[in-house]
Amino acid sequence: MVAIFGVGGIGKTTITKAVYNRISSEFEGSCFLKNIRETSKSEYGLVQLQETLLSDILGASWVYNIGHIDRGINVIKRIRSKRVLLILDDVDEWGQLKALAGNRDWFGLGSRIIITRRDQNLLSNHEVDATYELEELNNDEALELFSLCAFKREKPFDNYLELSQRIIRYAGGLPLALEVLGLDLHGRSRHEWESALKEYMIRIPHKKIQKILRMSYDDLRESEKNIFLDIACFFKGENVDYVVKILDSCGLSPNIGIKKLMDKCLITIDACNKFEMHDLLQDMGREITREESPEEPGGHSR
Ligand SMILES: Nc1ncnc2c1ncn2[C@@H]1O[C@H](COP(=O)(O)OP(=O)(O)OP(=O)(O)O)[C@@H](O)[C@H]1O
Ligand SMILES: [Mg+2]
Repeated sequence: MVAIFGVGGIGKTTITKAVYNRISSEFEGSCFLKNIRETSKSEYGLVQLQETLLSDILGASWVYNIGHIDRGINVIKRIRSKRVLLILDDVDEWGQLKALAGNRDWFGLGSRIIITRRDQNLLSNHEVDATYELEELNNDEALELFSLCAFKREKPFDNYLELSQRIIRYAGGLPLALEVLGLDLHGRSRHEWESALKEYMIRIPHKKIQKILRMSYDDLRESEKNIFLDIACFFKGENVDYVVKILDSCGLSPNIGIKKLMDKCLITIDACNKFEMHDLLQDMGREITREESPEEPGGHSR
């Protein structure tokens, strides 16, 4: 059992889909369960996911009359004779793992289960053999992805090269941002690119990117949200011990909160013990603070 975690839009679903397409034929059965977070929100969502798993691996006849999670679990356990590949994409609760892959002996010897998740924390409690944090694309990869979206070719046109580099600096190596911005700018004049860049530079976050990144923020507790906003507005690049002292004096339980933010890939601590945060996440934090009192900067909480 392997787990992949990383912030929204970093490419967890894309990478696991590519792995699945490449190796699924080597197994006796396979299933890619996508959108587990979303699907399990509905009343019978988890049962539906169990049914998809069973029908993909054992065939449609096994799905008859599942109706309840416990019955689903009992039927899934019958897979144990098959060597399978199972992808559980976007898991956000312990109960989902329990219902779909509660124990490795539910599946045959040599089976592989890959779980993707935004938050590292839950995975450490399950029978996970290895955990990988998905890294951002490097500059060359970012330029290639951006170009494919903006120019429908692997490299930018010469007269757009410098502008493209500036966009990539803004988007960092986050594939979601590179794709959204590339598709947005496709077919537009250099003049329009310049104005778009100006907007980004005065930190008007792109709505579609913010919507995805914001989901990780919305999941936080109130005190964790406050720590995230404080780091976004004041403490990026500051020494961790110094910030912990300040947050402590504000009664924010910083150590637990910081651990949670790191698990959710919302912040990192660099080798010099300073807080780091992706620019797009920092923009999001500032935007949330601005939304609290848009007309009156004096009314902002920060
Ligand atoms: N390595 C990559 N090469 C090219 N495009 C990529 C790559 N990784 C991701 N993308 C693109 O970036 C977008 C976001 O990727 P993806 O949906 O896989 O992210 P995710 O980590 O699963 O996000 P979420 O946590 O919201 O589910 C997708 O539209 C995908 O096409
Ligand atoms: Mg995904």
